Amino acid sequence: MSPIPTVPADVAAVLLTRTVEFIREKFLHEGSGHDWEHIRRVWQVARALARQTPQADALVTELGALLHDVADWKFHGGDEEAGPRAARQWLESQHAPESVIEGVEKIIREISFKGLGVATPMSTLEGELVQDADRLDAIGAIGVARAFAYGGHKNRPLHDPSVPPVRHDSFESYKQNTAPTINHFYEKLLHLRERLNTPAARRVAEERHAYLEQFLAQFLREWEGQDVAEL
Ligand code: ADP
Ligand code: NI
Repeated sequence: MSPIPTVPADVAAVLLTRTVEFIREKFLHEGSGHDWEHIRRVWQVARALARQTPQADALVTELGALLHDVADWKFHGGDEEAGPRAARQWLESQHAPESVIEGVEKIIREISFKGLGVATPMSTLEGELVQDADRLDAIGAIGVARAFAYGGHKNRPLHDPSVPPVRHDSFESYKQNTAPTINHFYEKLLHLRERLNTPAARRVAEERHAYLEQFLAQFLREWEGQDVAEL
């Protein structure tokens, strides 16, 4: 891949500020766990990872984080190109250099989890950082909250033991999934720890992953009525 030419610091700062305003406005009242606060956390974590990774282009990393969910396929009838298209449209309107636009498009195109049996390698270093930041926000206490916010948004039951988790071996089958929210833990969330790109993100994931396991154990204990058995 050709190197991304350095954008002057003042130009980069304006582009980032405008992008923050654009995304903040668009996602402030979103109710599926893909709200502005999710984007803000992903942006902050991606920025922190970029600081430790001098070879990564900071502007592409930050814009990729800010725009990664701009038009997610999950909310656009499964259209995988909606995100890259919306990001390009925004960045072109701001006269961003073509190389920056292409770097951001690539991140958005590659970032999503696509099923347990589907590899999702990122082809750029900047993409690896944004993907790690996005995945860290899907685990831990916030990950639990986001999963149920999403399930509620999609009108899904919390849990149904008669519906077993599925190992999705294609993006198509993952996309069509409408299972209860607890299944998502087994189909995705519990596997994110092993699918991170950077050692720094893997360190953070340890505690968050342990919390997911603890949550599930307690949820199933209450579901089975084990804690009220002695009443
Ligand atoms: P990705 O692009 O990898 O899907 P996102 O930033 O779009 O990442 O957020 C994914 C989050 O959306 C999940 O981690 C979870 O919180 C929620 N989510 C997606 N699918 C489901 C599902 N089937 N059940 C519950 N939550 C889901
Ligand atoms: Ni996201």
